[in-house]
Amino acid sequence: MEKRIALVTGANGEVGHLLLGKLAAGNYEVVALDLNDLDQTLSGFVKKFYKGDITDEALLSSIFQNEHIDIVFHLAAVLSTSGEKNPELAHHVNVGGTLNILKSANTISQASKKKITVIYPSSIAVYGLPDLVTKNSASFIGEGQFTNPITMYGINKLYGENLGIYFEKYYKLLEKSQERYIDFRCIRFPGLISAVTVPSGGTSDYAPEMIHTAAQGQGYESFVREDSVLPFMAMPDAVKALLLIADAQKEKLTQNVYNVSSFSVSAKEIAEIVLKVFPETMIGYNPDPARQRIVDSWPSNVNDTTARRDWSWSPDYDIKKAFEEYLIPEITKKYS
Ligand SMILES: NC(=O)c1ccc[n+]([C@@H]2O[C@H](COP(=O)([O-])OP(=O)(O)OC[C@H]3O[C@@H](n4cnc5c(N)ncnc54)[C@H](O)[C@@H]3O)[C@@H](O)[C@H]2O)c1
Repeated sequence: MEKRIALVTGANGEVGHLLLGKLAAGNYEVVALDLNDLDQTLSGFVKKFYKGDITDEALLSSIFQNEHIDIVFHLAAVLSTSGEKNPELAHHVNVGGTLNILKSANTISQASKKKITVIYPSSIAVYGLPDLVTKNSASFIGEGQFTNPITMYGINKLYGENLGIYFEKYYKLLEKSQERYIDFRCIRFPGLISAVTVPSGGTSDYAPEMIHTAAQGQGYESFVREDSVLPFMAMPDAVKALLLIADAQKEKLTQNVYNVSSFSVSAKEIAEIVLKVFPETMIGYNPDPARQRIVDSWPSNVNDTTARRDWSWSPDYDIKKAFEEYLIPEITKKYS
């Protein structure tokens, strides 16, 4: 079978670190783009690497013209905490970059009359629960509920979802003969935990930070309360979801935007698991009011029934397996 040529933006980030190898081992040739140099460990998975900015129109246009891209994994983004530190930059990258990808892909796909699939990782940050009482009483939130985000990142992601749908279904609505060639597929991820990389700039980072610092023999002070609950997912499952939705038959997809879920856990429960493995570590709680407010606005769990039905989504890692078979052994190995 002919290989699909995949453009991965933000390829040097946490998701990219696992995705690139999986793509290269599968039916893909990888073209990568990032603002920063690509990690040397990843260069063997990539046919061509572009160092540059996702908002650079000339760069994107030349990549689409030269590389015959079939599918885009649009990972480049400024995440939630970084976005609150610099909301204008977040808007520029998250909205401007996404528009640039969709516009460049659309231009070339219309000219060549060839569909380009755009895979867009969104986030539970698109949700905005008004208060803790509502968060604690609302369970298994569906894609259409509580989409009132309170962060610039959440607002950007929700808009990016709608922008993708617009390019697939409605672009230049007034032009009757307009043919549309974008196939837009989006997954709303919970907090992702990787054994390979330490996150920066997210608001669910307390979970991975707790594990990574304990494995390095350091104590950790959580920036959220111990009773804070969020849905999380082990990174291999996030990559599995991206590959599954990329391979799904379009006719089976009843919507463009899908929740996926794996396990929900409180900060205290994560600390207890970590303390069992690294009993000498110290974990304390010193909630940062702003970051706590963001976490309190995100759901404890989401309903992913439609992803399970439409493209056979199911996670391989529940909480026990995520810690016992992935996070603890891999992270211990990394720092030993
Ligand atoms: N990590 C999570 O917990 C999580 C959860 C939900 C959704 N997501 C989404 O998944 C995607 C990947 O997340 P991640 O954890 O790998 O993020 P990350 O922050 O680890 O990586 C983002 C990458 O994008 C690059 N980048 C930033 N601005 C850029 C620009 N202007 N031009 C080109 N590259 C740029 C960065 O250099 C970085 O390598 C993002 O879209 C994110 O919103 C992540």
